[in-house]
Amino acid sequence: MRVILLGAPGSGKGSVGDLVRSAYGFPKISTGDLLREAVQKKTPLGQEAATQMGKGGLVDDAIVLKLLEERLAGPDCREGYTLDGYPRNLSQARSLEGLDGGQPEVVFLIETREDVVIRRLATRRVCPSCGAIYNVITRKPTREGVCDVCGASLVQRTDDRPDVIQERMRTYHAKTEPLIAHYQEKGVLHRVEGNGTVEETFQSVRDILDDSLRRAKESQARP
Ligand code: AP5
Repeated sequence: MRVILLGAPGSGKGSVGDLVRSAYGFPKISTGDLLREAVQKKTPLGQEAATQMGKGGLVDDAIVLKLLEERLAGPDCREGYTLDGYPRNLSQARSLEGLDGGQPEVVFLIETREDVVIRRLATRRVCPSCGAIYNVITRKPTREGVCDVCGASLVQRTDDRPDVIQERMRTYHAKTEPLIAHYQEKGVLHRVEGNGTVEETFQSVRDILDDSLRRAKESQARP
């Protein structure tokens, strides 16, 4: 099963993706994390990506696709995976349809109000080592500033500055929102409420995902 999480920056895609991984074992593949890792390692792809990321725009489709293809080749992706942040435009959606096209697809649009996402992004902290996501208001680590999972010092993402957040929102409306109609036409889009707690959003995802997995199993069992 290929699970796609769509939603504005800060809508909760990464946080919900982590809960899907814990509950179903599907690895969460965040193209943002893959890009940040490439930037940190100063790979040629990372150096190209850094400028666009710093401005809040989209990184070149070919760069992101290359990173994604490499990651999807991992043995842990065979049974299914969750995509957090991919696709982000129609061209990426079409590229994805050409990759392991046999996977049934379920798409969740996490609908979160703009004032809520802006507040969440301003208060987000992340672990630069293992990628765990925290929030100084809603999801505090046990020890202030320290990752519960791996003990690294937490940081604020460089694109969580107010001016970059505004540009990321503009990019989302212009480039990513058209995907809503695309997946609606394919009949695979599910809207979930994102203004409540992460657990509430995950519960809505879970109800739909359980049903989708059951149907996928039934159709595989059919002669
Ligand atoms: P990416 O890392 O994907 O950023 P994004 O899409 O802007 O999304 P975020 O990670 O900011 O938010 P999220 O929805 O995952 O929210 P989270 O769960 O962390 O991309 C970064 C950049 O990389 C892009 O701008 C672009 O340049 C580039 N890029 C990435 N993919 C690309 C692609 N496919 N093509 C081209 N370029 C690409 O939650 C946010 C905060 O809120 C956290 O603190 C969390 O604890 C808290 N929170 C979450 N949910 C709740 C809740 N329900 N209640 C309370 N707090 C909550």
